[in-house]
Amino acid sequence: MTSRRSPGLETLEFDHLELWVGNAKQAAHYYCTAFGFEPLAYAGPETGVRGRASYVVRQNDLTLVLTSALGADGPVAEHVLRHGDGVRDVALRTTDAREAYGAAVAGGARGLLEPTVSEDADGTVVVAQIGTYGDTVHTIVERSAYRGRWLPGFQPWSAVMPTAQRVGLQRIDHCVGNVGWGEMERWCDYYAKALGFSQLVSFDDKDISTEYTALRSKVMQSASGKVKMPINEPAEGLKRSQIEEYLDFYGGAGIQHVAIATDDIAATVRALRANGVELLETPGTYYDTLGERVGAIEEDVAVLRELSILVDKDDLGYMLQIFTKPLQDRPTLFFEIIQRRGSLSFGKGNFKALFVSIEQEQAKRGNL
Ligand code: FE2
Repeated sequence: MTSRRSPGLETLEFDHLELWVGNAKQAAHYYCTAFGFEPLAYAGPETGVRGRASYVVRQNDLTLVLTSALGADGPVAEHVLRHGDGVRDVALRTTDAREAYGAAVAGGARGLLEPTVSEDADGTVVVAQIGTYGDTVHTIVERSAYRGRWLPGFQPWSAVMPTAQRVGLQRIDHCVGNVGWGEMERWCDYYAKALGFSQLVSFDDKDISTEYTALRSKVMQSASGKVKMPINEPAEGLKRSQIEEYLDFYGGAGIQHVAIATDDIAATVRALRANGVELLETPGTYYDTLGERVGAIEEDVAVLRELSILVDKDDLGYMLQIFTKPLQDRPTLFFEIIQRRGSLSFGKGNFKALFVSIEQEQAKRGNL
């Protein structure tokens, strides 16, 4: 933690995610029709931007920017060649981008863009940018003096994009990065020193392990409490862990999953399934022992079983969660849908519970 107080860093919250993808036009359509986002803004050759096209889509407090290169050269094309589709930028909003950037760089952040002012008839925005793990960046956005739809340089985009079902995604709950072997501590330290984050919880490989694979994880949180960035690293196991698989296919460290909050997870999951989103299935045996593991809950367990929704609890309450399958062909980025009922859990209890139920299924087949 930086000893000097930084108002810019103390007010950080999630602003948006920018994904660099192979075909932003089609990706925008997918996130709208499958996940319930609505078209908001566009920038590209028609608006004076050379070499790339960006589509902005929004749902409640959740905004995605989908960007593609229009040629073979440049950072977007190189990023997509190396990583496939993925999260390039976890953009963070602040009340003072100049001060936040200065404090971050003084704390050891890798500066990529000095605070830069852009403006149009709707007002003024200040953006700066720092690097984090892999090729991932944090743009720092100060937009309190801006009334426009998105950012200067973008034009309104209002394509007709009929969503099959209302989905009810609300906001980012947390955003998880995978880093390489033995690199977790270094990156937690980076968030602490550069951005004034502190450690919320930590899981060692005994907490998050199966007989075969293991990982370690620490949850870093901004001073405001609004930005939670867990960081995972692989741990020794008998087989290749999901973290190693990610690192191999993404070509290094990057964003593994984005957890998105909903106020009604059953309705959200029904809508996502109706829209064709692929979600991970949960073995029926998981629900047989759910009651003894988490105690009384408001939801009907039969509904959770039908929809494959998972439950975890801590001292403060419980939470419900489910994971999508990867959002692109590489087994890299996926979404988590989460509804918190008091709990601050990140789902630790589900790792072992799921494994045990998978083992029981294996045993039924005589394969254990
Ligand atoms: Fe998560």
